[in-house]
This record gives sequence, C-alpha cells and structure tokens, in this order.
Amino acid sequence: CGIVGYTGFQDAYDIVINGLRRLEYRGYDSAGIVLEDGNNKLEVEKTKGKVEDLVNISGQLKGKAKIGMGHTRWATHGVPSDRNSHPHLSNNGKLAIIHNGIIENYDTIKTMLTEKGFSFKSETDTEVLVNLIQYFMDLNNETDFPTAVRYALNEVYGAYAITVMHEDYPGVLVVGRLGSPLAIGIGDKEYFIASDASPFVEFTKEAIYLEEGHMATISLENGVDIRTITENSKIIPEIQKLKLSLEQIEKSGYEHFMLKEIFEQPKSVHDTMRGRLLVDEGVIKMAGIWDHIEKFKNANRIIIIACGTSWHAGLIGEYLIEEYARIPVEVEYASEFRYRNPIITDKDVVIAISQSGETADTMAALKLAKEKGAFIYGICNVVDSSIARITDAGSYTHAGPEIGVASTKAFTAQLTILSLIALKLGKHNGNLGNADFMSLTAELDAIPKKIEDVLSSTHELVQNIAKDFVNATNFLYLGRGYNYPAALEGALKLKEISYIHAEGYPAAEMKHGPIALIDENMPIVIIAPKKGHYDKIVSNVQEIKARKGKVIAVVNNGDTQVSEMSDYVIEIPETSECFSPIVASVPLQLLAYYIAVYRGANVDQPRNLAKSVTVE
Ligand code: G6P
Repeated sequence: CGIVGYTGFQDAYDIVINGLRRLEYRGYDSAGIVLEDGNNKLEVEKTKGKVEDLVNISGQLKGKAKIGMGHTRWATHGVPSDRNSHPHLSNNGKLAIIHNGIIENYDTIKTMLTEKGFSFKSETDTEVLVNLIQYFMDLNNETDFPTAVRYALNEVYGAYAITVMHEDYPGVLVVGRLGSPLAIGIGDKEYFIASDASPFVEFTKEAIYLEEGHMATISLENGVDIRTITENSKIIPEIQKLKLSLEQIEKSGYEHFMLKEIFEQPKSVHDTMRGRLLVDEGVIKMAGIWDHIEKFKNANRIIIIACGTSWHAGLIGEYLIEEYARIPVEVEYASEFRYRNPIITDKDVVIAISQSGETADTMAALKLAKEKGAFIYGICNVVDSSIARITDAGSYTHAGPEIGVASTKAFTAQLTILSLIALKLGKHNGNLGNADFMSLTAELDAIPKKIEDVLSSTHELVQNIAKDFVNATNFLYLGRGYNYPAALEGALKLKEISYIHAEGYPAAEMKHGPIALIDENMPIVIIAPKKGHYDKIVSNVQEIKARKGKVIAVVNNGDTQVSEMSDYVIEIPETSECFSPIVASVPLQLLAYYIAVYRGANVDQPRNLAKSVTVE
C-alpha cells in the first residue's frame, strides 16, 4: 500500500493526489483521502478503484486544506470496497488513520473495544487501531493525541506504517513505523510523509527515513519530534539528501513505465557496472565484497533468499557463483526459508536479493539468518531501503527507480551484480584464471551494447509475433542451464501482465509432464543460444515439432538449425553462456509487454499484484 501525508502552506489536496499517483504502483484496489478543512473538521473521500476514481469523486476538496493524507490500498483484511478503503475514522469522528501493513492481534483488540461500546464499519484491522487510539484519549483527558498513538502502538503487533490526524490538532500529523517503510520529507515550513520519497522529490531533497519501532509527531510549530514507541526516548534523526530526480520517476514519452524501463536497460546495466568493472585494469571493485572477503572465502555455502523475479535472479546467481567461485550455493524462496527451521550457522553467507528492499518475507528471512549468526548481504535497488539497512554489507543495483509492477531492468541489474560477484570471488579464490577472468569481464562490459542492439533489432518483430498470440490461453517457456531461470522469468512476465497462463520449465523436463500439453495450439518459447547445450535443445525442438507445437525461438544471430524448425525466430547477439540470460530476457520482456498491451491489460498495474509486497 502507499501512504502520503502533507502539512504546510500549499493545497494539501493536490499534493496528496499527485503523491498517490506516484505511489499507485504499490497497490491500487482502492484509494482515499482525508483533509482538515481549516475549521477543525475532517473531510473524507474514498472509493474502490484507482486514484483516478478517487479524483472523480473528490474534486470539491481541492483548495480546501493545508493538511491532509491519502492512501492507495492493496487489500489484506477485507475485500477491496469503498467501506474497507482508507482513511478510517474513529467512532467520534475526530481521528483519521491510514495504514500500510497488518495488525496481527486486531481481533482481540476489536473484541475488547466492542465490549467498551465501540462499533465498526469495516472489516479492516486499521479501523480497530484508530479506535484504540480514541479509546486511550477517552480514558484520560490528560492523554494527548501523540501519547495516545504511542499507547495504542504498544498494544499491537504486526507490521505497519501509519499516519494519523486529529481534528483538534491542526497542522499535526503523527506517524509510526514497524516493518513497513515511511519517509518524512522536510521542506521550508512544510512536511511530507510518504511510503517512499517519490511523492515529494520535487518539493524537497531532505528526508528522514523513520526507523523500525520509531514514531514521529510532525507539526508546523515544533517540527519533527521522533521517539521510540516502547520507551518514548527522544531520537535525533539523520537527515538524508535525496538523489532521486523527478525525471527518473516520469514516463519520458513512453506509453508505459514498463516499456520505458525495458528500454532503459542498456543504461541501467551499464550503471550497475559503473565504477565496479574496470576492464582494462582487470579489476572488479566491490567494496561490499572486498571488505568482507574473508567471510566469503571461508563460507561453507552461500544461501540466496528472495521472492518473485528476484528469486529467478538468485537461481542464475547460483549457476554463476558455483561455476566461477566454486562455493556451494542454495537458493530459496524467502517465504519457505523463514518458516521451515533451516540449518544456518555462522559459516554461512546469506544473500538477499530484493528490488524494493522492503519485501516482508525476504526481510523476515534475513532477520532469522542474522539471529542464527550468518553474515547477511543485500542486493537491493532502492537505496536506504529496509533490507539495505539491516544487512551487514551489500551492493546496490543502481538500476534507478522501477515503477512498472513487472520487474524488468531491476532483474537484469541483479544479474549484472551477481555476475560481478561471481567473477570477483572466483578470481580472488583462484578458481578463475586470469585469462578467463579477462575475457569474461570484457564480455560483460559489452552487454549494454548488445541489449541496445537487441532492442532495436527485435522491437518491431516482437510486436508482430505478439499480435499472433493475443488469444492464446497457455504458454510454455523452456531453457537449459543458465537459461532455465530465464525461461521461468519469461513465463512470469507474461503471466503477471497479460493473465495468460504460462509455465517455465527446464527444457529436458518437458518430457516428464508438460509435453502432454503440446498440440497445435500450444505456443512454446524456447531459449536456444549457441553456447549452452545447443544440441540438446535442438532435440527438444524436434520433440515439440513432432507434436505440432508452435515454437518461438530465441537464438543467436545467424542460427540455422533451430531457426529452420521454428515458427518464429528472434535473433540475439552471441555472448558467454553465463551472461546470455541478460540478453535473452529483453525480447521476452517485450513479448509479454506487447501481448498484454494488445489484450488491453493494464501493464503497469496488473490486477491483484503490487510492486512492493510489505505483507507476509
Ligand atoms: C512482487 C513484485 C515482483 C517482485 C517481488 C519481489 O511480487 O510484483 O515483481 O519480483 O515482489 O520483490 P522485491 O522488491 O523483493 O524484489
């Protein structure tokens, strides 16, 4: 979910609505806004649907207030509906809250409050929390608004970021955080609240990222007062300088963020390597690895944990690190790892991969690994994100903000970082000889140019292919070796944004099940670069053709064997097998994108998904 708040001298409606538009990628089942109209009266509008649906019903609030907050929701408790949308008001109508996350013990609190005479309009855990705050204020006249928030937060457990307003406290916002992110933008006589800095970058470059277990009272009179939730101890915050620019978070002429981000990949992969890969000197510079090289060198094994697309990157990371650094690697879904009592020791290195750096399951898995003494390393895209901050060390991917819900440039940037790590470790521990190191780093350095070539040579072709599959109901994606995870990722992209059922498989496993699905209606995307079990793939394509499946082959420029048998051929430049997923993924992203566009789907905000899943 996304949270925005404002207190200052500008029109709060505009700032909140524009902020919600920027955060909409975080959730978009419903949206809502609350303003304090200057006469100590809260005005709320909320609706099921998108931010634009909210705009349609809330125009009358424009120009009315200098303080307000808004929310865009990804449903956890209660179906998406007007009633369940945020903000929620307390029973006396004086308090309004917006909330991201889950209150786990809300049921017990709800029962207690119901016994005391409180009633509830929605099924949400959030409405319980706002009434608990009212309860503490009612209980004792001396309890002021921020104190009541603090009391209430001490009663709840779960994960949350909240912002609360009280109609008798003009100009004041109270925020709190446990688990879900919250940034406070500091302007000149104005303050902004948001789940990430994107809603306020155009107004200020100074921000405080609220730490876990802290709350803040923000008022025009007294500025930002940060306290710990449990002890009420005062905290002196660290003010960060934001590097994000407005241009980075706008579409710059592309129809969708996803397309813009696909086309940014020559640059994002290059940015990920910049300052790290010094080809001529034969050096990979990565402070995060180098400062802890002994940990990696002496590691019994490396465990990679992640979710979604980042997990696919992890699978390729396993191939890379095992091949070049010869350190055993395991890759696990964070959500499985954390609940299965895994064996972890202080000899393990645990690497978390996360674009957002906020994924709740990945975060929890890391905490578990840390408790058990492992050295924890982060590969995140969002600077200063929660995962980036709790890890012992890490490497940022530097892909720039990724807004499209389906991850594209973050994925190829993750593969780039993993390649750098594998080569660096391999060289350091002597498993990768100097000549191989030099030729691999030269190959890696050439990848941005190859992505650029693929974008220009396949863009139109892929659009034409996509037109033929608009009505497909199933897809299979096959690959071997390094391109098996690339097949999984290709299938995930299609599934996420076009709602066509798609499955990725190691090509050889086809015989053990999926082959039963193949008939003349089944499109099969097969990744078949020259380097990497090509002959075996040729046999797989023959097996598919014998059953009349429709083959869309991703092959190297000039390929003949697979191309002759395939119905559609997408050519990409040759590269080392280990880097081929970076290049091969690009046309697959385009294919998913255009199929979804032609089906009229909302590419940037596919139904039911969210960019950053801060619930478990
Ligand atoms: C969500 C997103 C995916 C992403 C996954 C992991 O499901 O929709 O695109 O791969 O979360 O996110 P992370 O930010 O941890 O990489």
